[in-house]
Amino acid sequence: MTGLIKEIMPQHVAIIMDGNGRWAKEHGVPRVAGHRAGMESMKKIVDHSDKLGIKHLTVYAFSTENWKRSTEEVRGIFKLLVTFVNRDLRELIKNNVCVKILGDFSSIPEDSKKALEKTIEDTKNNKGLQFNIALNYGSRDEIRRSVETIAHKVKAGELEPSDISEDVISEYLWTGNMHADCPDPELIIRTSGEQRLSNFLLWQAAYSELVFSDALWPDFSTEEYERCIAEYQSRDRRFGGR
Ligand code: IPE
Ligand code: IPE
Ligand code: MG
Repeated sequence: MTGLIKEIMPQHVAIIMDGNGRWAKEHGVPRVAGHRAGMESMKKIVDHSDKLGIKHLTVYAFSTENWKRSTEEVRGIFKLLVTFVNRDLRELIKNNVCVKILGDFSSIPEDSKKALEKTIEDTKNNKGLQFNIALNYGSRDEIRRSVETIAHKVKAGELEPSDISEDVISEYLWTGNMHADCPDPELIIRTSGEQRLSNFLLWQAAYSELVFSDALWPDFSTEEYERCIAEYQSRDRRFGGR
């Protein structure tokens, strides 16, 4: 943890894991092989986040827009995720990691859903790192769902329109206290040199520091991760004040 300041470690880091496809192209292998290499990178970053004392890690694994990709690629991504949770479940439990899914994973392939449900169940009481996997996640969809829930409550007379505060809207997001229950991320990292949010945590990112890394996700090392955190620690966060 060279050069990092423990006292200002972010509590919640969110990562847009991008560049698997370009990594595969660079290595002359199929795109799915890029996603496999990306899974290994994810594993490494989960372990390292835990070591650094980060409390919540959210990774963007599959967006609501990623269904546009070929069936082969989509199948491959979900299969890899199952391999990851099955292979590493015992270790996640041992390390006290609690796994949550952000997004509507009811519509993902049945075998993947089962494996993920088991992982969530088996790790739900763990008090260590909270590891959120954003899967079939889209932030506009997330906000729309929150608004729908609130509208139902108003219609049922459980809530007055004037009760709809920012906190109420946050409550019904996937990160809200009805679901994953975690604070807004102080730091959002995107790899592969792209500089956009691609429908990730739009509401929660209001005051997040954004750090961009040129590394393709499978090449993203723990050193590069620490460099991103160090960049975050060097920022002057003002939240609109002076
Ligand atoms: C990120 O890598 C993983 C997912 C979106 C599932 P990409 O597959 O987007 O990689 P590039 O952007 O094509 O290199
Ligand atoms: C964002 O990456 C989604 C994930 C990392 C899961 P994309 O590669 O899908 O985003 P765009 O298409 O470059 O914006
Ligand atoms: Mg991409």
